[in-house]
Amino acid sequence: MRRFLLLTVFLFCSITYVNEVLALDISRGMILSNSCAACHGTDGKSPGAIPSIYRKSAKFIVQALHEFQDGKRPATVMGWQAAGYSDEEIRLIANYFSSRP
Ligand code: HEC
Repeated sequence: MRRFLLLTVFLFCSITYVNEVLALDISRGMILSNSCAACHGTDGKSPGAIPSIYRKSAKFIVQALHEFQDGKRPATVMGWQAAGYSDEEIRLIANYFSSRP
């Protein structure tokens, strides 16, 4: 019985911790994504000719940003927009956009 109780407490703490880490990741991603909103719109829903990134997969966004950084993907502005972000920041931004409801 005591073991079961300890296990329950342990599991509860682990789940709470994972949830907090995920929430923190998403809010850091949200802050970083603010600079994208000027062109891509809130939540990535672009208003005009700029491609929308709303609901694009995290994998697609990560790959696109790396290709913009490396100059492998044709770009008018994204080359210098993507420059300067670390892999970790790109992951956070991509996770944020792909998680929009
Ligand atoms: C100054 C305006 C501007 C800003 C700011 C901007 N973008 Fe872009 N984005 C564009 C334009 C324009 C394109 C089309 C490619 C090009 O011409 O550079 C594009 C293309 C993209 C694409 C490829 C979409 C597709 O379907 O091919 C992704 C992904 C993207 N942007 C992500 C981002 C992210 C993430 C940020 C913030 C870190 C960001 N952009 C900030 C203007 C902008």
